[in-house]
Amino acid sequence: MTKYKITVIPGDGIGPEVTESACEVLKAVGRKSGHSFAYTEVAAGGAAIDSCGMPLPKETLRLAKESDAVLLGAVGGPKWDNLPGDARPEAALLGLRKGLGLFANLRLAVLFPELRDASPLRPDLVKDGVDILIVRELTGGIYFGKRGREKKVEKLEDGTPKGVEAFDVECYCEAEIERILRVGYNSAMQRNKHLTVVDKANILETSRLWRSVTEKISKEYPEVETDFMYVDNASMQLVRCPKQFDVIVTSNMFGDILSDEAGMITGSIGMLPSASLGVPGTPGMYEPVHGSAPDIAGKGIANPLATILSAAMMLRYSLGLPREGAKVEQAVSEVLAKGFRTADIVENRGDSFLGTKEITEKVIDEYEKL
Ligand code: IPM
Ligand code: MG
Repeated sequence: MTKYKITVIPGDGIGPEVTESACEVLKAVGRKSGHSFAYTEVAAGGAAIDSCGMPLPKETLRLAKESDAVLLGAVGGPKWDNLPGDARPEAALLGLRKGLGLFANLRLAVLFPELRDASPLRPDLVKDGVDILIVRELTGGIYFGKRGREKKVEKLEDGTPKGVEAFDVECYCEAEIERILRVGYNSAMQRNKHLTVVDKANILETSRLWRSVTEKISKEYPEVETDFMYVDNASMQLVRCPKQFDVIVTSNMFGDILSDEAGMITGSIGMLPSASLGVPGTPGMYEPVHGSAPDIAGKGIANPLATILSAAMMLRYSLGLPREGAKVEQAVSEVLAKGFRTADIVENRGDSFLGTKEITEKVIDEYEKL
């Protein structure tokens, strides 16, 4: 029996409601498996701006580093939208990613069979399902490159003075590319053994380096079929034939964009979990892909399933309890199969739905039966 230390960052909007649900499910896992989970709740994002005057208090990062895993709800909201860049709630996310060394972001885009009608794509395009794992590099590239502004004295071709110029640099080294590729290949080995590197190698030097590192690493995974796709084409292929993808590995910026697109294809963003991982043995961070949804915050109707599924990823990747993780996922599927829905995933407007707490209880009931 192990006692796991979990740092919980409820954050903003619906964050506190959905993390509470995931913690309830983990408690049920503890009751059944004999393990226990000790939660330490800390502030980050808008909540921390309000209580401590900064988006990521030092104490939050310290406690996160000392734990076995971090569960995060969501950060951000209109209340803090007018703050400058590094004072905004989102700065907490970047600080946690960098501070915990979370270089690999795993985002699933799965179309649950019971929710097939939710996809905005034509039924014939998703009839074979969608099951894509996007492995996004998370601590490098343009998000963390050199940035700044300079007053220019030069002029444009027509003589107009340039004025201020801003720049954000995309930068990747071989070691950063290699370690994210390995996460991608290891995931592909557990899945359908197909990996697509998405880049812009017809233009960007960083992408050309990604390709040459991939050529080298792919030799170590002969069972995995590797291909390359330009990001503009990939965004088109995702809506043309999502079934062709298994694992996508890509840079921070491209991963940000494509994971939203892939999430939308499932039509149920309230269902999608994510994991952010660093080197083995360090705490991973788990959060739903959906944001803080301030419009429905506090109403008790948020869909907690993405956060519950994120807790399942935590059991698998950080806590060494893959069987319990799989059971939680199965419990969520059973709940859907029985027709239980939250407001965001009801088939027709006006259909009855369960609130956050009620659907959490249903998941726990199903989990306890497994
Ligand atoms: C995400 C978000 C963040 C990102 C923002 C909120 C900083 O869009 O996690 O995808 O761009 O990484
Ligand atoms: Mg994003």
